[in-house]
Amino acid sequence: MEETKTFSMPRIGDKAPEFKAVTTQGEINFPGDYKGSWVILFSHPADFTPVCTSEFMTFASMEKQFHEANCNLVGLSVDGLYSHIAWLRTIKEKIEYKGMKNVEVNFPLIEDITMEVAKTYGMLQPGESSTKAVRAVFFIDPKGIIRTIIYYPLSLGRNFDELYRVLIGLQTADAFSVALPADWRPGDEVIVPPAGSCGVAKSRMEGKEDMKCYDWFFCTKKLDKEKVLKTILKK
Ligand code: BEZ
Repeated sequence: MEETKTFSMPRIGDKAPEFKAVTTQGEINFPGDYKGSWVILFSHPADFTPVCTSEFMTFASMEKQFHEANCNLVGLSVDGLYSHIAWLRTIKEKIEYKGMKNVEVNFPLIEDITMEVAKTYGMLQPGESSTKAVRAVFFIDPKGIIRTIIYYPLSLGRNFDELYRVLIGLQTADAFSVALPADWRPGDEVIVPPAGSCGVAKSRMEGKEDMKCYDWFFCTKKLDKEKVLKTILKK
């Protein structure tokens, strides 16, 4: 009988599975090498493909912005190291796209020919492709905990405004002990923790606290954009 190996996919709140890998920037120990900073681990289906090329150029162009938010980028595909190197050289030397040119990809790109890392992280989704990783994005915090996971299919490039918004949102929720409403961006109102007693619920509804309440369980307060950005961004 054919043996089927099953893999459990990591989930939000889990410790990021550890691995050692060869990358375009040398060997890495993941996530240990990134302790103390945020890291976005993302997969792409294949080198020398158009959607992935547009994404890599965008990631590389935004790398400084991610660094300023204490976040490193680490890419992965199931291609080999020499393919990665050749592709990144082609991007730098030949591709001009949406005003981006001469783009150097300085973050590590993992070679995963054995697909071990891709399988461990649930990046291979056979209904979509059994040979290529989907476009997975794992946001991992400075303690090595997975905080958000986003998956895109092969045919749709990621939304980089959203990836950056998620990173800033996670850090804001942590730093200010708040939750963030739909479509939140820095400068928008934030949600205060729910009332923990009937007394607090009453005083909130009577307008005695410096917040706006839509009902006793749904109250927001102002949080200045400058305060958020000053807390999160290092220049
Ligand atoms: C792309 O990146 O263009 C791509 C990769 C795999 C399948 C389809 C598109």
